[in-house]
Amino acid sequence: MKVDVLIGLQWGDEGKGKITDVLTPEYDIIARFQGGPNAGHTLEFNGIKHVLHTIPSGIFHPDKINVIGNGVIIDPYTLAKEIKKLRERGAEPTRNLRISKRAHLIVPTHRLLDNVQEAAKGTSKIGSTLKGIGPAYTDKTARHGLRIGDALSPNFKDQFYTQKALHQTIIESYKPSQELLSIEQMSADDYEKLWFEGLDYISDIPLIDSEIFLNQSIREGKKILAEGAQGTMLDVDFGTYPFVTSSNTITAGVCSGLGISPQSIGRVFGIFKAYCTRVGSGPFPTELLDETGDELRKQGNEFGSTTGRPRRCGWIDLPALKYAVMLNGVTDLVMMKADVLDGLDQVGVCIKYKIGEELFDMPAYETMNSDIVPMIENHKGWKTEISGFRRWNELPGELREYIDYIETELKAPVSVVSLGPNREQTIVRNVL
Ligand code: GDP
Ligand code: IMO
Ligand code: MG
Repeated sequence: MKVDVLIGLQWGDEGKGKITDVLTPEYDIIARFQGGPNAGHTLEFNGIKHVLHTIPSGIFHPDKINVIGNGVIIDPYTLAKEIKKLRERGAEPTRNLRISKRAHLIVPTHRLLDNVQEAAKGTSKIGSTLKGIGPAYTDKTARHGLRIGDALSPNFKDQFYTQKALHQTIIESYKPSQELLSIEQMSADDYEKLWFEGLDYISDIPLIDSEIFLNQSIREGKKILAEGAQGTMLDVDFGTYPFVTSSNTITAGVCSGLGISPQSIGRVFGIFKAYCTRVGSGPFPTELLDETGDELRKQGNEFGSTTGRPRRCGWIDLPALKYAVMLNGVTDLVMMKADVLDGLDQVGVCIKYKIGEELFDMPAYETMNSDIVPMIENHKGWKTEISGFRRWNELPGELREYIDYIETELKAPVSVVSLGPNREQTIVRNVL
């Protein structure tokens, strides 16, 4: 049995949470392989909206196992809050959630480091979610991180305070203001107390050798879906560096983030919005700084699920999508939020980039760090409310032509179309 993968093809927030939840009935296990609480994955069903940060989006299906893999980084404070909320809503994660012992911890001082290092960047700041992601992954690769499995050791507190002392020296060197020394509107000491309470609260969730569990499950014929966080253009190697996150968000990250061999990868679902958004700083060639951009933000409710920040909005970017399809080995496309474009006379598509006299059809190193002029081609809008449709042949002709065009350009079929935030507002064309 193979491991299928769901990857964001843009700058995150494509709708990975919703589609993971929709696809979960087809799988036995859902696994997150990278990222941490910088992610905000939204699911809606039975009139309730859920936002998950660290927990895989299959969690609302009690008979499916959800795994937080070794490549994920965990803040026990956030994870405990997520678990409490799930319990309030009737779910019991001790039954269907498992955590890799090898997953690294985000400690309170990682969050302070994120605060001071972002502030020190001044106008070139990345727009980090300030969840401690960069510093925690830095410690992992610098080989002095703490893993959640270490919390079981009697020496854990010693390790924690040794690391904290190291961090404090760095933090003090930035001569930070008092404001930068608070976390979630609390003093660092208060936060640290809640952090340890969180660690204690989550201690009933089984810690496992997830790489062994997952490989055994593959051998037993179980179906696994790996749920990505962030998006391809935020990948630390191939995204718009340095305006990226600190992990490999692409399919390759599944192998290292779960301990799965490349031969085990099956279908790769590449998910994208029918337009494009980005939250935080950095290049965004098709960004619309006019009323159309404002309209997309309003209609699409484009405000960050984790930070509440307004998302930058623009047209779909085919060169960036082609690049993402190439990097991820996408076999199936998933198109989200076409309903947001219902009222538009024309829908723009960026077909190439122009820099000076030269045209580029891929976001090569030079292009993403230059002043790019996107070459926009307009497609006729469908001017029909589509959110109530449930069948492919109900969709307006102009929308079907738009989808056909994207399939031809990206050389992969659009297997799922999403027409609203709710679980039901989905058309699955190519049945799994
Ligand atoms: P993720 O991070 O990729 O899981 O995406 P987010 O949850 O951060 O952002 C996607 C947003 O779009 C959420 O508010 C979803 O409820 C919403 N959403 C998902 N699919 C659709 C859709 O097809 N149409 C509309 N209008 N909203 C959608
Ligand atoms: P999901 O999984 C959108 C962005 C931040 C910032 C940059 C680095 O919900 O799609 P970090 O906190 O990782 O150091 O921030 O990456 N970013 C996201 N943007 N969706 C996300 O996750 C993101 N996670 C991080 O805004 O620009
Ligand atoms: Mg999100």
